[in-house]
Amino acid sequence: MGFKLYSFAGFSFYLFVGLTLHLQVLEFCSAGTTSSYVRKYNYDIDMPLDSDVFRVPPGYNAPQQVHITQGDSEGRGVIVSWITADEPGSNIVLYWPENSKHIFRADGIVLTYKYYNYTSGFIHHCTVEDLEYDTKYNYEVGIGNTTRQFWFVTPPKVGPDVPYTFGLIGDLGQTFDSNTTVAHYQLNPAKGQTVLYVGDLSYADDYPYHNNIRWDTWGRFTERSAAYQPWIWTAGNHEIDFSPNIGEPKPFKPYTHRYFVPYRPSDSTSPLWYSIKRASAHIIVMSSYSGYGVSVKKS
Ligand SMILES: *[C@@H]1O[C@H](CO)[C@@H](O)[C@H](O)[C@H]1NC(C)=O
Ligand SMILES: *[C@@H]1O[C@H](CO)[C@@H](O)[C@H](O)[C@H]1NC(C)=O
Ligand SMILES: *[C@@H]1O[C@H](CO)[C@@H](O)[C@H](O)[C@H]1NC(C)=O
Repeated sequence: MGFKLYSFAGFSFYLFVGLTLHLQVLEFCSAGTTSSYVRKYNYDIDMPLDSDVFRVPPGYNAPQQVHITQGDSEGRGVIVSWITADEPGSNIVLYWPENSKHIFRADGIVLTYKYYNYTSGFIHHCTVEDLEYDTKYNYEVGIGNTTRQFWFVTPPKVGPDVPYTFGLIGDLGQTFDSNTTVAHYQLNPAKGQTVLYVGDLSYADDYPYHNNIRWDTWGRFTERSAAYQPWIWTAGNHEIDFSPNIGEPKPFKPYTHRYFVPYRPSDSTSPLWYSIKRASAHIIVMSSYSGYGVSVKKS
């Protein structure tokens, strides 16, 4: 019951954010009507664990749940994150501009966490810096026989009139409708270049003991977009995972271990609060749930 209430509060909050952004967009430029799609009102059921979108990539210790986000304050850095299931493997990201033979490398870190009786895989985060603007890069993660390659395009240099297209997604979850939402985003002719993710990612907290396996399935599900363009993360109430009754009193544990964000470049002391510039946008990420904990009562 408690979760339902929160999910409702979260829902209306994000609708409000969406509306505010939309009005601003209407004021300064006009993209017209980009889709006639109207989402069904009813909640849908989660995709089963054996769904195609949750499939583990083949190969021993293959990197999975690959996702990227901006890694600095102006768009010349990228944080690459991925998980290996069997052993730590390699923390290295190899990357190269599409039309170049020169291969660069960056070294990252690996961490794990436990949540109740769940133990995570080896979570890798690696920041790639000093990229050229407006350039397509290929990148590779993994080691030995099981490497995987992806690509991303860096944004243009920050400036007041630089054209750029952001997608806005929130409350995604992992239902069949969530899958349709990602498909619509990817097929949209407006071609979003970066996702502003307005909170509520996996909804793993709807499961008994916040079954963190549903964080892994969500990571594999969203890889098809999030490995190729930055998703700019904001925490919602479904990221709190505050559950002292099962020995989990530290809020935001799964979220902050899995989704690194560039909060230090904006002199923030918390990954829940940060800002970045990208093309013509100055994005300020705030968290309405930061004070969450034993000492803070929320109704
Ligand atoms: C964790 O505990 C739950 C509830 O007792 C159980 O259903 C589940 O199988 C356990 N998972 C692991 C990985 O031990
Ligand atoms: C990697 O591939 C080679 C050639 O196919 C094979 O001989 C070797 O056993 C593989 N190594 C691992 C760790 O799977
Ligand atoms: C999810 O959507 C993709 C792309 O439309 C499709 O290939 C896949 O079969 C869908 N999976 C499920 C479980 O709906």
